[in-house]
Amino acid sequence: MTDLVAIARSLFLHGKGLLAADESVHTATARLADYGIGAGAESRRQFRDLFIGTEGIEKYLAGVILFSDSLLEKGDDKNLFTKSLLARGIMPGVKVDLGTEPFPESPNELITNGLIGLTERLEEYKKQGAVFTKWRGVINIDGDTLPSAQAIHENMKRLASYAKEAQSAGLVPILEPEVLMNGKHSRASTRAVTGEMLQTLFSVLAEHSVDRASLILKIAMILSGSENAKKDTPEEVAEDTLAVLMENVPTQIAGIVFLSGGQTPDQATENLSAITRRTRSSGAPWPLTFSYARALQDEALAVWKGKEENVPAARATFLARLAKVSGALS
Ligand code: G3H
Repeated sequence: MTDLVAIARSLFLHGKGLLAADESVHTATARLADYGIGAGAESRRQFRDLFIGTEGIEKYLAGVILFSDSLLEKGDDKNLFTKSLLARGIMPGVKVDLGTEPFPESPNELITNGLIGLTERLEEYKKQGAVFTKWRGVINIDGDTLPSAQAIHENMKRLASYAKEAQSAGLVPILEPEVLMNGKHSRASTRAVTGEMLQTLFSVLAEHSVDRASLILKIAMILSGSENAKKDTPEEVAEDTLAVLMENVPTQIAGIVFLSGGQTPDQATENLSAITRRTRSSGAPWPLTFSYARALQDEALAVWKGKEENVPAARATFLARLAKVSGALS
């Protein structure tokens, strides 16, 4: 087994998952503003420290995905975030894409940037302590018109180029082609689009000779659009999610992690629990776990509100949600 395969597999230790703490400056600013917390480098550092500095997270987390700035930041304990994570057996990773912009050939769709200069940035991130990486591509559904085949193909091609580069740099790639929940579409439509996207992804990965055994797929669960009146049951979500994965994902990949994508913390927990139950009966060949941002952080942010005196209660809230999400894996 190569080092990369071993690292990728170790992110799937029983009962553990990943915290996605990799919001860009823009997203972190907007997230903090939702809770009345002012923007700025120091409030973003405190936001990261709120979660990374919580005692006991190592019971539930095998990895944390950081935003690149955080590779150089320290917690209130004066230790680099990367070091304090590693000291607790949690692997630090980093988001390496540079965000999205409108896709020129279909301006209502998005394409992810970051391939230019990626080789040099990966080298830097590795020196700064990252052991795995993540690239997010975004696919949106709009009636029968979107996504376009071109947007799917270009996004999957960029994911494959990134994955190849990450592996050459000795870093595990997490490929996150996210089908957005936003919209009125049905769960059947999410399932069909996700299937088409995964078919394209794995065929482009083969063309780029990407090693499957050391790559991780990060994906949205199969849900009805957020503006669709239909409320999916956890069993429906689990059935469709596992079906689309079984139909389209090769057995050899290191594992699959789920994003929360705008689900409430309870939904993301209950749906994960139903997926875990169904995994047992369906015999899924890959390990599965969580890699949530909002579903793990939102309740704690509502308690914290950017105030130092609220840190202990906010951390207790975070730990309680982590325990529930981790419990959904058993
Ligand atoms: O890029 C998005 C994160 O990796 C996952 O975030 O759980 O809030 O969807 P989320």
